[in-house]
Amino acid sequence: MDRYAVFGNPIGHSKSPFIHAQFAAALGEQLQYDAILAPLDGFADSWHSFVAAGGKGGNVTVPFKEQAYQLADVLSQRAKQAGAVNTLYLNSAGKLCGDNTDGIGLVADLTRLGVTLNGITVLLLGAGGASRGAIGPLLDAGVKQLVLANRTVSKAQAIAANFGAHVRACGYADIPSQPYQLVINATSSGLSGERPLIAAQHLQHCLLAYDMLYGAAPTPFLQWAKAEGVPQQADGLGMLLSQAAEAFYIWRGKRPDITPVLALLKQQLS
Ligand code: ATR
Repeated sequence: MDRYAVFGNPIGHSKSPFIHAQFAAALGEQLQYDAILAPLDGFADSWHSFVAAGGKGGNVTVPFKEQAYQLADVLSQRAKQAGAVNTLYLNSAGKLCGDNTDGIGLVADLTRLGVTLNGITVLLLGAGGASRGAIGPLLDAGVKQLVLANRTVSKAQAIAANFGAHVRACGYADIPSQPYQLVINATSSGLSGERPLIAAQHLQHCLLAYDMLYGAAPTPFLQWAKAEGVPQQADGLGMLLSQAAEAFYIWRGKRPDITPVLALLKQQLS
């Protein structure tokens, strides 16, 4: 049976084995998908052992996405743009290929939620790995202008420098006053029970507030957006599933429907 795995540290919390088992069952694919705890200084060894034992492909999560980027022989365009790899596989020549499905997973989830990305202006909060991986796919999907705001403005500027005039960097106090149809929180602030401290006026024209984090309860950012009258809010559970579906497609050539698995995961979280 073909073997796949997710590599991370910690990894016990990962929902990927459950998700891929559901995808495989729905599509009649015979595969095994495990969670592998790689030592903090031993990601490459861990990956090589897995391949030596017959492993076909893997997902990579915190803190190894940049190391996976270094390890890959061949990088996709979206992995290069993200500066990080979340999906690994061997091509027919035996070369290690690195891709990144996080950003395309976000775009797929936004599309599922009914957002038209073509021609809109987006406010993206945060300048870490999660944010960087999202920009290229959002622009490719037709976003007209993207304002990248971060608490530490230099980090936003460093990321924006990789993109053209469609991306503008700023701090939270200098966000341009213009209508944003979509506001995305890509910061980790919700993990500490906080939200990015931006002014409420930036939500005035927002149709959907999206938080890349997810949990049993709405994140502080989504609670705030709701209180400010944003008509629709969504957390990152759909993005998690959509990035997994894209990885599954890369490995198996079949794209799973995330809807039934999303319902199961929501049940598990509640
Ligand atoms: P990830 O890879 O998940 O994006 P990261 O690289 O550690 O994680 O980046 C975390 C992001 O969350 C950063 O943009 C960080 O802002 P700073 O660059 O100013 O540190 C942001 N962040 C974390 N906690 C925050 C908070 N309480 N308020 C606002 N932004 C926060």
